Amino acid sequence: MRKFLGSAAVAAVMMAGTAAYAAENVEVLHWWTSGGEAAALNVLKKDLETKGIGWTDMPVAGGGGSEAMTVLRARVTSGNAPTAVQMLGFDIVDWAKEGALGNLDDTAAKEGWDKVIPAALQNFSKYDGHWIAAPVNVHSTNWIWINKAALDKAGGKEPANWDELIALLDKFKAQGIVPIVGGGNAWNATTMFDSVVLSLGNDFYKQAFNDLDPAALGSDKMKEAFTRLTKLRSYVDDNFSGREWNLDSAMVIEGKAGMQMMGDWAKGEFIKAKKVPGTDFVCMRFPGTQGSVTFNSDMFAMFKIAQDKVPAQLQMASAIESPSFQSAFNVVKGSAPARTDVPNTDFDACGKKAIADLKEASDKGTLMGSMSNGYGAPAAVKNAVYDVVNRVYNGELTPDEAIKELPAAVAAAK
Ligand code: GAL
Repeated sequence: MRKFLGSAAVAAVMMAGTAAYAAENVEVLHWWTSGGEAAALNVLKKDLETKGIGWTDMPVAGGGGSEAMTVLRARVTSGNAPTAVQMLGFDIVDWAKEGALGNLDDTAAKEGWDKVIPAALQNFSKYDGHWIAAPVNVHSTNWIWINKAALDKAGGKEPANWDELIALLDKFKAQGIVPIVGGGNAWNATTMFDSVVLSLGNDFYKQAFNDLDPAALGSDKMKEAFTRLTKLRSYVDDNFSGREWNLDSAMVIEGKAGMQMMGDWAKGEFIKAKKVPGTDFVCMRFPGTQGSVTFNSDMFAMFKIAQDKVPAQLQMASAIESPSFQSAFNVVKGSAPARTDVPNTDFDACGKKAIADLKEASDKGTLMGSMSNGYGAPAAVKNAVYDVVNRVYNGELTPDEAIKELPAAVAAAK
């Protein structure tokens, strides 16, 4: 080109290119900053790149997204909303209520989203009958990730109930490794607590963490849940505080720790480290929760933005819902697709299990919103639960005190 055009003309052509690029650009706020998360996000960036859509990255670190939501509030308040924001359940509904979100109805109708995205997700991706967010995946929190070599050394049997779980932790201790890693912050501890509560019964979980029934929140069963959480904490190393979930995963990957109780985004870290399920690590449902799923779905909530930016926003929403993208992305992310018609062919054994478990739970009515990850209750209530769980985890509250505090804190936050 240089041969035929003067340098000023080259600059003009290049600038025109930049301008076109900038017009077809999405600014995306998210908290996918760990190795596995970034790898998954890259699948989305690359997909948009092939469609000529540029990416302005706005990462805000912190599992569960609380920090990201604080940054978002500041952005929207100053009248400068990003194009798309990674968001969870009740936060999406809250923004929709404020009238801050755009409208994806035409794209959704053209592509038949209503038929392929399950009702449990539509409850949050639609508001007042209108599509406001594009669901990317379905994660679930009731998983345990175990180092396979450590498990083999301990006899190789996956724990089938609470007592076997404790017996395994004792064996890990005897091996000289950290039995469990986790609980480094309130979100992390509450993610562990989701599983503990669920293991005491589906109805109990639902009454406490979806219906917010004060009797369940203050019950003997909840006391038992706090007692079990305290027991698990006694197997965690002294350096847990402030450690992010992906560093916990790294300890299990390296064999420094035996297990982690965490949502299946943890699998993204194992995959990124080239670890293979069944060979290097084991994924299992928290004992007593097989057949049930506490879910959370990452969605991109689409904000009201300047009219000239809307086409790129709609293209992004459409790209996210494409079945081939749903497969490629979720294989890397550790989650199940948000659509029910995506083949499980490319998924590893844990991914296939996630997809099958989700279907089973959805058919049986045992699919419940994760309290820790934004699908149990609105943010104010979730934060109240975080606070009580975190204080128990850190030894500041006894289980007896916690079952008095929990219903009171939830009532005050409602
Ligand atoms: C969850 C989110 C996951 C993962 C995790 C840790 O809330 O749904 O996609 O990012 O936080 O960052």
